[in-house]
Formats: sequence, structure tokens, C-alpha cells
Amino acid sequence: MNKLLRLLQDGHFHSGQELGEALGVSRSAVWKHVQRIQADASVTVYRVPGRGYRLAESLSLLDEEELAPKLSRFGWALHLYDSIDSTNAEALRLLQLEHVPFLVLAETQTSGRGRRGRRWVSPFGHNLYFSLAIRVQGGAGRLAGLSLVVGLAVMQALHSVGIPQAGLKWPNDVYIDGRKVAGILLELTGDPADVCHVIIGVGVNVNMVEAAGIDQLWTSIKEHVGMIDRNQLMLTLADKLRGCLERHADFGFPALKLEWESNHIWQGRSCTLSTGTQDYSGVVLGVDNEGGLRLMIDGCERSFSGGELSLRLDQ
Ligand code: ATP
Ligand code: BTN
Repeated sequence: MNKLLRLLQDGHFHSGQELGEALGVSRSAVWKHVQRIQADASVTVYRVPGRGYRLAESLSLLDEEELAPKLSRFGWALHLYDSIDSTNAEALRLLQLEHVPFLVLAETQTSGRGRRGRRWVSPFGHNLYFSLAIRVQGGAGRLAGLSLVVGLAVMQALHSVGIPQAGLKWPNDVYIDGRKVAGILLELTGDPADVCHVIIGVGVNVNMVEAAGIDQLWTSIKEHVGMIDRNQLMLTLADKLRGCLERHADFGFPALKLEWESNHIWQGRSCTLSTGTQDYSGVVLGVDNEGGLRLMIDGCERSFSGGELSLRLDQ
């Protein structure tokens, strides 16, 4: 599937003969391949007699040959899939077989996971879905603020592709102009008090312009700066992630706290924090040294942390 899509990804016309020669199949077999990629990759291919085939919309496909050598300079082995249930789930499975660190990346996820058991909408070929598996040693203190730091790295990557207004929403969502552009899901195995593995899952909406099943305001990079090369973006994200993870490992979350707070979209705003069973309304003061949210509630400061919390802006 990937070879035919790769030939068509530029969005230009390609004759049946050219495609057949490149794939080593007959012209009628090309048509069957085209029908299969339309079904499997949810792309639309126009077939025009005398001109050949072209994609309704050009694609920027992930390229293992471009990515693997560059990621290996960071010491990250690459596992790239056309389709996987969830890159986080695959990374957890691979932990049994592979040495960390490694990166799992996919063109689509059939069961992309969001926080609190929600679904992450993951159409083929448009966005980035990846999971970095790392080892963390030295006790729970070494994990403090880690998920916030990942958000910071994603935001830095968006700034560097020309979206300076990208900001953070506690604990680790990335927003552009009030719409969610990226989500982060950390999963942990092992003993957090000693040695553990952390799967850092990141989903970024890149060239997606329509999607079904997202029940909140969302956006993509394309809506702000036009279509971009997903391989380049992956490398920029990897670079920012590596930088932030290194700072976090060397100096801890306090070293990144000010940068995080100065990019928090709801800093100083009135918000409601929901724990699932209770709501707390207050003014956002910032984050503490562990990455917990500091709220001023009726004149008293309180800190909140934990994976099940959800913050909403008061109207
Ligand atoms: P919070 O957890 O702080 O309440 P949230 O409302 O974004 O934030 P999450 O659980 O973090 O909720 O994220 C899952 C939600 O993300 C889903 O319920 C869905 O609305 C949304 N979502 C799913 N896929 C995408 C996507 N590709 N882009 C943007 N949002 C998405
Ligand atoms: C959220 O905002 O709810 C978190 C979304 C995390 C989505 C990414 S996509 C890559 C990785 N694999 C998954 O199944 N989920 C994360």
C-alpha cells in the first residue's frame, strides 16, 4: 500500500503505465491497488482516462529512510508502522523485546488512546502519532512535572514552525487560539519509587482539516501555516523533546517551571478544576515544583495533581 501512496503523494497525475512499471504489476492490477488504498488509507483517488490517477489531496508520508538515521543520533531506535492499534500500546509491548529509548510512530491508529479512557482520533497520513519509551531511575521525584515538560517541548516545536501563539493548558494539552492541537498521554510501568519505564505518547494534528468524532474545539498546524512536511516536524519535535527531557533529567521541573507558566494560556484566569466527583473554582496562580496546579480558592492557595483532573475556563 505504502509504495503506491508514496508514488501518488505529490497530488499530481501519474499514468497507469508509469505506476504499473514502478510497482511491477499490470495496469489493471494498478486499479485494484488504487481501490485498496482508497479503502485502507481513507484517501480519495481521482481516475481520469488519458491522464491516470491522482490523489484528491496531496500527502506528506512518513519516511523511515529519512527519519531513522537522524533519530538514531539521539540514540532512539525507530519503529514505524502504517497502522497500529495505539503507539502507546505498541511501545508497552515492545518494552519486553527492545532496549530503551525507542520511538514508535504510525500513519494511523485504530484505537488511539486519550486521557481518562477517551479516544484519540487518528486518521491516516495527516497527523503525527508517536510514543517515546524511556527509562527513569531515582524515585518518584524524577517524574515530577514530566508530562508538563513534554507539553512544553511540543509547544516549542510549534513556535519554531511559525505558530508563536501556541500555548499550554494544564496539565499537558497544547492549544492554538483556544483550540486543541496536540494531546499527551504518559503511561508508566515498573516501580515509580525506583526504576520505571515511561511511555511518552504524543498526538499532534498536522495536516488534518476535517475529522469526525472530536467532541471539542480542535485545530491543526495546516490551518495556521499551511501544509507542512511531517518528517521535518517529527525531527523538530524529537529535537525539542530531547532538549526538554535532558533539562528535566539534569535540573528537575523547577528549572522549567517559569517557562511553562509564562506559556500557560489560563495563567491568572478564573477556572474550575474537576476531579470527577468534585469541582473547585479559583484563580490559576501557576504550578508548583512537582507540576501540580496552584489555585487560589476563597483566599486560600491549594495545589492539585493527578491524572484524572480536568481544568475548564470559567465564562
Ligand atoms: P481535559 O483532560 O483537561 O479535560 P480534554 O477535554 O482535552 O482535556 P482529554 O481527555 O485530555 O480531554 O482528551 C481527550 C479528548 O480529546 C477527547 O474527548 C476528544 O474530544 C479530543 N480529541 C480526540 N482526538 C482529537 C484530536 N485528534 N485532536 C484534538 N482533540 C481530540
Ligand atoms: C489526550 O489529550 O487525551 C491525550 C492524547 C494522546 C494521543 C497520543 S497519539 C500517540 C499516542 N498513542 C496513543 O494511543 N495515544 C497517544
